[in-house]
Formats: sequence, C-alpha cells, structure tokens
Amino acid sequence: MNEEAKLGILQALEERRSIRKYTADLPTNAQMAELMNAALEAPTGRNAQSNEVYFIRNEQTAARLQESADNYLQMTRPDLSDSFHCFYDAPMIAILSADPDNKWKAVDAGIIAENICLAAYAVGLGTCMIGMVQDFMRSDASRSIRSELGIDEELEFQIAVAIGVPDQEPDKKPRDADKIKVIY
Ligand SMILES: Cc1cc2nc3c(=O)[nH]c(=O)nc-3n(C[C@H](O)[C@H](O)[C@H](O)COP(=O)(O)O)c2cc1C
Repeated sequence: MNEEAKLGILQALEERRSIRKYTADLPTNAQMAELMNAALEAPTGRNAQSNEVYFIRNEQTAARLQESADNYLQMTRPDLSDSFHCFYDAPMIAILSADPDNKWKAVDAGIIAENICLAAYAVGLGTCMIGMVQDFMRSDASRSIRSELGIDEELEFQIAVAIGVPDQEPDKKPRDADKIKVIY
C-alpha cells in the first residue's frame, strides 16, 4: 500500500465521528457504489457472508421506518423525549440482518457496519450506527415495515446505520486508553 493510502486509512480511523444531524441530500450514485463495495468487501467468519445489507435509499421510506421505530421506542423507553428521532432524520438507512444460526453473525455485522461507516467518511458522508432499534426490528411491531422493505423474514436484525451528508461536526469522545493492554 502506498504511503498516501496508508495515511488515508489511519486518518479515517481517527477522524470518523457518529453524525446525528444530516442535510436532506441523498448520497450520489458514486457514493452509493463505494458504500455497497465496502459492505461487500468486509471479511466474515468462515466466509459465510450471511448478513444481508438493505440500503434504504429513499427519504420517504426511511422516514416511515423511523416513524414506526420511534412509535415503538416511545412505548418502551419513557426516558426518550417526544421529539426524539432514532435515525436522526437521516435520508438513507442501512439495515443489516443475518442468518440467526450463524455463530459469527453479530461480529460480521459489526465489521460490515464499520466498513460502511469508514467508506462513507472517505466519500464525504456521515453515519451513525443505530443499535437501539434492535428490539423493534426483532419484534412483531416491525413485521409490516420489514415486509414492505422486502427484508427476508428468516433473517435476524443485527444493526442499522443512519447515512447522509453531515450537518454537524461533533467533537471526538474521549477514549479509555487503559482498555488497550500489551502483554510482554
Ligand atoms: C454497536 C453500536 C450501536 C450503537 N447504537 C447507537 C444508537 O442506537 N444511537 C446512537 O445515537 N448512537 C449509537 N451508536 C454510536 C455510539 O454512541 C458512538 O459510536 C460512540 O458514542 C462513540 O462516538 P463516535 O462514533 O463519534 O466515535 C452505536 C455504536 C455502536 C458501535
């Protein structure tokens, strides 16, 4: 790998932030191509490739998914304010769902999601992984929206990613360096 490419990867690791405010713009075709490729290139345990990635590239559909998830969260999470929107009104949402019998499904999904987030950062997009919709996405309450989106009923939701053009520049959250140990 050349020096410039190496620096680019290390810089993205350092600079990527979770974005919770987006413009209304949808990703372009060129940006989409990079996101799809990043999802495809992710390594998976035993090369099972059991996660399916559904990019919802339609603001109205993304808003409908958000509204159903918000309604569910309002019932189960009284701590959330009425104005809270779980996908932060992102114009695009990716849903990752995997074969429930795959032992590495959650690890695989995390790697795919991070690949998407880093590729998005590289092409000027912002992302936020959204795990809080897990109960909703695995419940009967999401059956109709899942069916509308064509998400395979047999698959189990793993993680979602909100995606769009960033409309904020959040500060980096401090990291706990003590969690990283080197054993000599
Ligand atoms: C598995 C996972 C689930 C997450 N779920 C949510 C979520 O539901 N809502 C949210 O606002 N952020 C969510 N996040 C984003 C984290 O809060 C964020 O990554 C963390 O605060 C560090 O900030 P940074 O991404 O800007 O470095 C999630 C992140 C991960 C890795």
